[in-house]
Amino acid sequence: MQGWSPTSWKSKPNTQEVAYDEPRALERVVARISELPPLVTSWEVERLKSFVAEAQLGKRFLLQGGDCAETTSDCRSEIIVNRLKILLKMSLVLILGGRKPVVRVGRFAGQYAKPRSSPTEVRGGVELPSYFGDLFNRPEFTPESRRPDPELMLSGYQHAAMTLNFVRSLSAGGFADLHHPEYWDLSFFERADLPAAVRESYQATTRQLTDALRFMEALGEGTVSELSRVEFFASHEGLNLHYESAQTRTVPRREGYYDLTTHMPWIGERTRALDGAHVEFFRGIRNPIGIKLGPKVTPVEVLRLLDTLNPTEEPGRIVLITRMGAAKAADALPLLLEVVRRAGRRVLWVCDPMHGNTITTSSGIKTRNFEAILKEIELTYDAHDACGTYMGGVHFELTGDDVTECVGGGVREEDLSRAYATLCDPRLNHAQALEMAYLIARRMRAE
Ligand code: PEP
Ligand code: CO
Repeated sequence: MQGWSPTSWKSKPNTQEVAYDEPRALERVVARISELPPLVTSWEVERLKSFVAEAQLGKRFLLQGGDCAETTSDCRSEIIVNRLKILLKMSLVLILGGRKPVVRVGRFAGQYAKPRSSPTEVRGGVELPSYFGDLFNRPEFTPESRRPDPELMLSGYQHAAMTLNFVRSLSAGGFADLHHPEYWDLSFFERADLPAAVRESYQATTRQLTDALRFMEALGEGTVSELSRVEFFASHEGLNLHYESAQTRTVPRREGYYDLTTHMPWIGERTRALDGAHVEFFRGIRNPIGIKLGPKVTPVEVLRLLDTLNPTEEPGRIVLITRMGAAKAADALPLLLEVVRRAGRRVLWVCDPMHGNTITTSSGIKTRNFEAILKEIELTYDAHDACGTYMGGVHFELTGDDVTECVGGGVREEDLSRAYATLCDPRLNHAQALEMAYLIARRMRAE
């Protein structure tokens, strides 16, 4: 990899740079994180890459989801369990809908760094650094909290390790009962505004799922224990390159460098500049990587990103995550899909229907509408159908808890203040996320 090192990004522009005011403290922390054990392993990373490669061929579907801004204070057993549960339930519904295996990727164990539209925030005439996520600073609006503190990277590493430790234990078998819809809260089926045909399709899906699981279990012991082992991969936005590069290393008997903070880091919409620090860092790591693409991206830019980030056309390397917004998807997607298809580039197309659909209510609350989210998924399916490409995954901001952050799917605008907990973007709650999976499964069946 010519001219690349884990720190070659330092000579490139970074529009989301967060300035630490104590270079010595920063160096100390980075050195410590460099010698701590990796959070994930290269063979897990390669395993995910092989799954992404299969998804690129239409043989798997990818479900990615979790908090917008994960916080270290939310590193609590119940929150982690609920998040895994909702991802697991959604994945089972999607397996049934698409009749193919689903790769589960969480936005967790490191989703602690947030890009911001402005480096500072003004409240009551006071200007302080914006909150860039728990990996950089603290949300409280005080000079001490908002000061970027390198020690928070160590805390982020530790909380990511604790989260992964629990996720791994749960994956190894603590989940058995969860396969069964009879243990799920499906009260959204009873919502008064649900059209009868939709309710019936939900009920039919649940019946099929129950039957399928009973059948699998009836096949015998081996299959049951296989079923109770549920695999999850971790992902986060690779925004804080001090943190990412500190855990980027070579491993015995493999070529190249792995970013071992997570299985699949992604580059955000605000940091995908071709000549920027993030693209420089990402071009040198061996992980599968996500790239967010908003409505302003041009097909030429995408091709250049692919040339830079995957010059050898390695299978499983690139996940393109489109986040156009329901209003723009129909215009923005066709040319993009067509150009990438014609160039013969191997990518996995994933739809993030959250980030192009953020709105502010008249009372100033940031929210997203369930209908707009669904609409973007439908339009993205349509665009892929028309182009002959495969929509191979979805990307959600969600939580397994009963928050009220997005409207629709049972939450009214006046409910938003009841349980609005996100520190950044609004997430689907448990019922909204599960219902979304039922609706996607419906569309998959129609495909
Ligand atoms: C995000 O996924 O939380 C995010 C900031 O997305 P984007 O870069 O697509 O705006
Ligand atoms: Co977000």
